[in-house]
Amino acid sequence: MRPLIQTLIPSGHSPSDCGEAYAPANIALCKYWGKRDEALKLPRTGSLSVSLGAFGTHMRLLPAKTDSLCINGMEFPADDKAHRRLFGFLDLLRAPDFRLRVESRNTIPMAAGLASSASAFAAAVKAMDALYDWGLDGRTLSILARLGSGSASRSVYEGFVEWHEGVDPTGMDSFAEPVAPVWPDFRVGILTLSEAEKAVGSSEGMKRTVETATLYRAWPEQVARDLPEIRRAVLCHDFPALGRTAENNALAMHATMIAAWPPVLYWRPETVAALHAVHQLRAEGVDVYATMDAGPNVKLLFLAPSEARIQEIFPHMQTVSPGDG
Ligand code: PMV
Repeated sequence: MRPLIQTLIPSGHSPSDCGEAYAPANIALCKYWGKRDEALKLPRTGSLSVSLGAFGTHMRLLPAKTDSLCINGMEFPADDKAHRRLFGFLDLLRAPDFRLRVESRNTIPMAAGLASSASAFAAAVKAMDALYDWGLDGRTLSILARLGSGSASRSVYEGFVEWHEGVDPTGMDSFAEPVAPVWPDFRVGILTLSEAEKAVGSSEGMKRTVETATLYRAWPEQVARDLPEIRRAVLCHDFPALGRTAENNALAMHATMIAAWPPVLYWRPETVAALHAVHQLRAEGVDVYATMDAGPNVKLLFLAPSEARIQEIFPHMQTVSPGDG
């Protein structure tokens, strides 16, 4: 993979004393579920997300004698999973004998059940770009971040972002691009329902779904319908259409995983209870919709005027204004 990556990075740049960058987390409104190439993390379909503004990862990279990783003030040893995954990724971008001290700070509430891998890999690529002063464009940053985690390809931008699946086997046409800025009233509510570590990671969950779920055959068709509708709804601020389509898309994604064997069932009783409460709120006329990723927690989509009523039903909800950078 390295030769492919080297074609994207300008040669002859030496590192400075420090490279620093920030990348936001993101939540997909039209989900990415299923790879066509495991190593290059090439998706089977496109996807569209909203970046979470001030919720994300700040990363500092400092040339050092040995590799070390500090996240939110805590040191992670070399045999830790997070350490191995991050430095395995940085190995793709750096010279073989070059060592780094990584200082990372997540502004995502740790218990919120939001994946920090997307913002971490996007911040890592941007910090490397700053360290070496490569001057990479958004498309290249997105391709490189994708190699760390698929959804990281979308975290190099703010606002609404679309990741194109591409057709090229090298993945050079599989990158994300901004679609539109977030409109000021748009809100994401995070419901932390379970902090238990998930039994099946997203990569394993996707693989199992693609290989064993007959229902997965319908997924590309679902995305072919939902992605243009969500893009349209984003561009003309059609919130009910956006919410409806995003909720249906998330539920359809979960249906494909539940139909895998062994089943990939992230839902807990609290997940189902929250979905019923959302449907009850809608029956009362509150415009609120749910989305879920590879875990039991639920994220709500709504506009600012509905916040007070939704907060009454979900007192522990943490609200994010994705437009606040
Ligand atoms: O990028 P990964 O491997 O963490 O997978 C992300 C998968 C979902 O969060 C479920 C969907 C998405 O598009 O973010």
